[in-house]
Amino acid sequence: MFYSDLTLKTSIRTIPVKTASAHYPVYVGRGLFAEIPRRTRLTRSGRRVFVLTSPEIWALWGEQFAAAFPDAPAVLFLPVGERFKRLAQVERLAGELVAAGADRSSLLIAFGGGIVGDLGGFLAAIYMRGIEYIQVPTTLLAQVDSSVGGKTGVNLTAGKNLIGSFHHPSAVFADIDTLQTLPERELRAGLFESIKAGIIRDAMLFRFMEHNSETILARDAAALERVITASIRMKAGVVGIDERESGLRMILNFGHTFGHAIEAATGYRRLLHGEAIAWGMLAALQIALARETAGPDQAERIERTILAYGPLPLFRATADKLLEAAGHDKKNRAGRRRFVLPKGIGDAVVVEDVTDEEMENAARWVLEKARE
Ligand SMILES: NC(=O)c1ccc[n+]([C@@H]2O[C@H](COP(=O)([O-])OP(=O)(O)OC[C@H]3O[C@@H](n4cnc5c(N)ncnc54)[C@H](O)[C@@H]3O)[C@@H](O)[C@H]2O)c1
Ligand SMILES: [Zn+2]
Repeated sequence: MFYSDLTLKTSIRTIPVKTASAHYPVYVGRGLFAEIPRRTRLTRSGRRVFVLTSPEIWALWGEQFAAAFPDAPAVLFLPVGERFKRLAQVERLAGELVAAGADRSSLLIAFGGGIVGDLGGFLAAIYMRGIEYIQVPTTLLAQVDSSVGGKTGVNLTAGKNLIGSFHHPSAVFADIDTLQTLPERELRAGLFESIKAGIIRDAMLFRFMEHNSETILARDAAALERVITASIRMKAGVVGIDERESGLRMILNFGHTFGHAIEAATGYRRLLHGEAIAWGMLAALQIALARETAGPDQAERIERTILAYGPLPLFRATADKLLEAAGHDKKNRAGRRRFVLPKGIGDAVVVEDVTDEEMENAARWVLEKARE
């Protein structure tokens, strides 16, 4: 008992996020729920704590989570699914917060996947003009990507994440144990964002994922910890330099031009976000190959590694539909085709002059490859 407590305590890693507007720790490890009250100094404050989660996650982890707190926190629920990441839910939940007595000193905990995190962060950003919140991400994608960096928001009918705010959490607790209940497909989908992290900025992470896919997919805690820690470090480093995405942060969008287009062209139903990004990275790789920002050997390693974390669901779309969706990507500056390309493995460049022809070739290539 004593030894296992000790192991748990010593195995917590802390990654600092330091941006122009915020400074907070991301904790990665096992058994982290128990750490939340102490590390957020809740025990002495007497503050009210509100947990936003989904019924599914609460059914799996709620008992353990609540047991970590000296006083049972009030729990608010967001139904599962991207279609609930909407302003209407923010308004409903804000009303519930008022009714439950939340004030400006209350703490909101977003406990769930990226949807709970994005909406919870946004709710915290605007409730009484902003309250403190912490992220306790429970999907791999949320741990390595969405919980870090301060982007919060909800969807409009016109598109995803079109309403939002930068509002950083005051801490992130990425508990690896929660991943044990994550559906396999969700795990794989999140891992594509970690492969992305490796390709654009961390050759060691890429190499580790290249050579350890079986161990990682078997959810070995040490392997997952390594992948998650490195991915968060990469994102924290980038966001620390460019919080508002005016420069370097754009590299995080590697694979996302075609990835978003594939999601849109397939009605957001066929593929998970990470799966679409995996296809998007493969498409972008074709442009990188033609421009020789990556060599054939590097491209082959990238492709092999992505496919090792598959299977990637197949899909059908027309090239026109895909290109139209790629053209409407909100991340493109008017009149110029901005695109992130890998520069070998472990580095990336943002180019502003990708031609229609290059886009068409990449679209045709990926559609051919993904055909059922
Ligand atoms: N803010 C950002 O910077 C950022 C970055 C990337 C993605 N995002 C957003 O993240 C969202 C996607 O997040 P996601 O992939 O985590 O999806 P999600 O929140 O929908 O979670 C995926 C599924 O896994 C279930 N789940 C979550 N944790 C579980 C667990 N531990 N055990 C069992 N089941 C569990 C959920 O109930 C859900 O069904 C999108 O809305 C996307 O726009 C935001
Ligand atoms: Zn993404």
